[in-house]
Amino acid sequence: MSHLLRICLYNTDPEVSNELKNAIQELDFGRLVAELNEPEQLAAALHEDGINLIFFHLDPDPDPILELIEQVSTRYPELAMIAISHKTNPDAILAPMRAGCDQFVCEPINSADLASAVNRVASKRLLTPPKSRCICVTGASGGTGTTSIACNLALEIAHLANRECALVDLDLQFGDVAANFDCEPRYNLYDLAVAGSDLDRSILSSTLTKLPCKVAILSRPEMIEQQEAVTPDTIHRVIELLMGSYENTVIDVPRELSPWTAATFSHAERIFIVCQLMVPSIRHAKRYYDALLRTGVPEERLEFVVNRSDGRSGRVTVRDLEETVKKPVYACIPNDYQFVARSIDFGRPIASLDRSNPVRAAIGKMAREIISGAASQAAQQDERRGFLSRLLTK
Ligand SMILES: Nc1ncnc2c1ncn2[C@@H]1O[C@H](COP(=O)(O)OP(=O)(O)OP(=O)(O)O)[C@@H](O)[C@H]1O
Ligand SMILES: [Mg+2]
Repeated sequence: MSHLLRICLYNTDPEVSNELKNAIQELDFGRLVAELNEPEQLAAALHEDGINLIFFHLDPDPDPILELIEQVSTRYPELAMIAISHKTNPDAILAPMRAGCDQFVCEPINSADLASAVNRVASKRLLTPPKSRCICVTGASGGTGTTSIACNLALEIAHLANRECALVDLDLQFGDVAANFDCEPRYNLYDLAVAGSDLDRSILSSTLTKLPCKVAILSRPEMIEQQEAVTPDTIHRVIELLMGSYENTVIDVPRELSPWTAATFSHAERIFIVCQLMVPSIRHAKRYYDALLRTGVPEERLEFVVNRSDGRSGRVTVRDLEETVKKPVYACIPNDYQFVARSIDFGRPIASLDRSNPVRAAIGKMAREIISGAASQAAQQDERRGFLSRLLTK
């Protein structure tokens, strides 16, 4: 049988090293590529593309290892993890599961138990591709609020999903996603573009700026002229890698039709066209929408979001927009210039300033719909899979 899994063992007890390694090497659908006993070694191994299962031996001192498991599961949500210990009381089993392990195997190791734990992890997590979604936010006119919505949407999605959400600034020349979070990324898209064929998940992971609010930013190039190095191929590769690592990726996309935006939109589950209730904005929203349809973007992936919906003179209404584009508006974000401008100037996302602000509430609602929309799709798939599968997943 071909080796499907690249396995790593984290073990600080030399006395059981051989026993553990022998048991793991007996698995016929995996290959033990490293045994490690220091967090730094583990970090380095995870940077090497390809490890997809870690065994954590918890004895003799579980606490630092549980802490490590928690950090690894937050940073690498796609990794499968199995805990091993000779302690089998309920607390000893629950603690690693709460920290993020998928399975628990007790010592002395029974090879059938070990194989069945790995089998279950493999069928549940590794052999089914991770569900991931790419959400694009783009504007019908300049200054319409695209970046504010993209940034706050990523934050809300990360909060709801309780997982890191990737946030990409594709406004290659004048993007200010990083400024919205008051951070100065060390690396950016340009570094990925010049990595060429070396570009892999480990390079991508070290290029992202991971913030405590669980948003991982991939910023635009530092110098305006560096945008030339970023090709549509770079964008394809970057989004593919992001979608392999993150459940959710939000992209702030500039208002243009180009090979760059086409590459981006080809990955999108949803494309939000942000507009305001003004005649030119609505006209451009319609032109943009029609052009995207002509390029082959499926109609159901395109949605309209009205920003600053209650702050205009009232001459143009949401109804006017809906009649123009012949589609219901997906969301309306209220107007609060003082508040949004303060959030941008301080580089502090809206939710961190005031969770009850109506602008934040409207963006939070969008995030909930995005996440629950996916949940209902999954439910429909379960429905299609049939009765037995439903019983098994209960
Ligand atoms: N809901 C809102 N209420 C009031 N003001 C808002 C709202 N959303 C955005 N703004 C204001 O609109 C301005 C532009 O916002 P933002 O930078 O997010 O727009 P953009 O579409 O990304 O602009 P650009 O076309 O330059 O990329 C900012 O000054 C921001 O404070
Ligand atoms: Mg912008």
